[in-house]
Amino acid sequence: MCGIVGYAGTNDAKEILLQGLEKLEYRGYDSAGIAIANSEGVHVYKEKGRIASLRQAVDLNETAQVGIGHTRWATHGAPSRINAHPHQSVTDRFTIVHNGVIENYSELQREHLSDLDLVSETDTEIIVQMIERFVTTGKSTGEAFREVLSLLKGSYATALIDQHDPETIYVGKNKSPLLVGISDGINVVASDAMSMIKLTDQFIELSDGEVVTLTKDDVKIETLDGQAVHRDPYTAELDPADIEKGTYPHFMLKEIDEQPFVMRNIISKYKDDFDKIKLDEDIRRAVMGADRIYIVAAGTSYHAGLVGKQMIENIAEIPVETHIASEFLYNMPLVSENPLFIFLSQSGETADSRGVLVNVKEKGFKTLTVTNVPGSTLSREADFTLHTFAGPEIAVASTKAYTAQMAVLAILAVDTANARGKEMSFNPLQELAIVANAMEVLTDQKEKLEQVARDFLSVTRNAFFIGRAADYYVCLEGALKLKEISYIQAEGFAGGELKHGTIALIEEGTPVIGLATQEHVNLSIRGNMKETVARGASPCMISMEGLDDEGDAVVLPKVHTHLAPLVSVIPMQLIAYYAALHRECDVDKPRNLAKSVTVE
Ligand code: F6R
Repeated sequence: MCGIVGYAGTNDAKEILLQGLEKLEYRGYDSAGIAIANSEGVHVYKEKGRIASLRQAVDLNETAQVGIGHTRWATHGAPSRINAHPHQSVTDRFTIVHNGVIENYSELQREHLSDLDLVSETDTEIIVQMIERFVTTGKSTGEAFREVLSLLKGSYATALIDQHDPETIYVGKNKSPLLVGISDGINVVASDAMSMIKLTDQFIELSDGEVVTLTKDDVKIETLDGQAVHRDPYTAELDPADIEKGTYPHFMLKEIDEQPFVMRNIISKYKDDFDKIKLDEDIRRAVMGADRIYIVAAGTSYHAGLVGKQMIENIAEIPVETHIASEFLYNMPLVSENPLFIFLSQSGETADSRGVLVNVKEKGFKTLTVTNVPGSTLSREADFTLHTFAGPEIAVASTKAYTAQMAVLAILAVDTANARGKEMSFNPLQELAIVANAMEVLTDQKEKLEQVARDFLSVTRNAFFIGRAADYYVCLEGALKLKEISYIQAEGFAGGELKHGTIALIEEGTPVIGLATQEHVNLSIRGNMKETVARGASPCMISMEGLDDEGDAVVLPKVHTHLAPLVSVIPMQLIAYYAALHRECDVDKPRNLAKSVTVE
């Protein structure tokens, strides 16, 4: 994970780097650092903890127009000041930041640096030490940089400064995302466009195995073997206001509230002039041609993929399997003759999903990425992309990206059914408009949901979410939301499965949240709730209008059964949010997590 930035221009690099890192904190926030270079040398500031701590450590009087920065999610070496980036070579001539994992770092250390005591426990430090070694054998910095990068196995987005040439930043990329931003007399490098959008909206995507030599007036892109690369910039369509909290106390709350708007945005993007579904013809053909669909995803996106499986199977009648990305390659299913792989990823950068993408592409299978970040790695590398149009999601816990993924999958399912000549009474564009209204009704019930969180979750150590059919998948997501931000141990279970073991954990007062939005399982899930109550559980029932019963804690406005997960998750998101607030947890940046998981 981790995020990196670099700046070469005419303004004070320090403040630009710090602001850029603040926007990248979602990628990791256990330590951070910057290095700024001026004629007097390179000055490194780094601290354990958030960018706010780094800000306090930076010498405000030190100015420079060039610099690099890093915010860390620890992989090799615990979060500490020493392990924080930037790292420097023995003589301090070279300074580096790195996002990624160097898999062969021990091997390289043995081969090239066996006589050196490394300062940190990171895999990164060997890069900068090797560059210095190679330069002392007579190579230029650019040559040494390229040579060392070509020896690395693993992933890197990296930026290097040489004290002898403080106006230049050397940049390299393999597998980890990296963009170069260009403007008049300013060039920047960043893990994402958001972090530099205040300076420019013109960005060049780098491909794996490319290096860049960047000054304030020039950007030279080459391959590792020295071939010049020419690539036009694209315009990043980001509204700087989208990445600010505005009047909200947390991004998560803002993003929960944005979901009705996201639904309406998706409707407008996927609707043609005749109010029919608008979809790329090649994507339509790819789905139609598939004898089986494999959805590959992680975390919350995996949960959206489970709902997506049900939608596509029920609506389009194509068999679908949903797989956890990190398991797929180690536990490969038998793949059908004409599969379509759908990669579901908010960030489009998840390394586990990308590993599968690379593998199935090598086998010649068709691939489609459904993502919130169209220029992302998974989007660029798949044959096709569908955009979820949720706008930047900053809070680490995913909310609006999840409902957006399910909305787009519903549209895809119906489009495929239509293309297969199936008579459809379900119009997802109309039904999503009803979902948007239902979401609004629920986001207006914050006070009530805060009270539910207080009543059921303020003192507990654990909680259970139970549901059946599609409700079970939403329970998995509800439990994940609660545990990741409130640290309450929460588990989602299929209602009928509880009594096969887990019911042993129910004690006096254990919160059990039940979900009933599917008519065919309403009575059986209520029966399962009663079984837990009989053993002392404290029940909190969420049901859909028409299926509700006296005493239900939350009644959801009625929406089409296929789309119920988009609505039933809203109270779960809000209950998780308030439970975390009551426990004084850092809602937007939960411990140990990062939003973009770019390591395996
Ligand atoms: C949880 C969460 C994660 C992500 C997962 C996959 O709230 O956000 O579980 O869903 O890391 O990330 P993407 O969707 O970017 O591939």
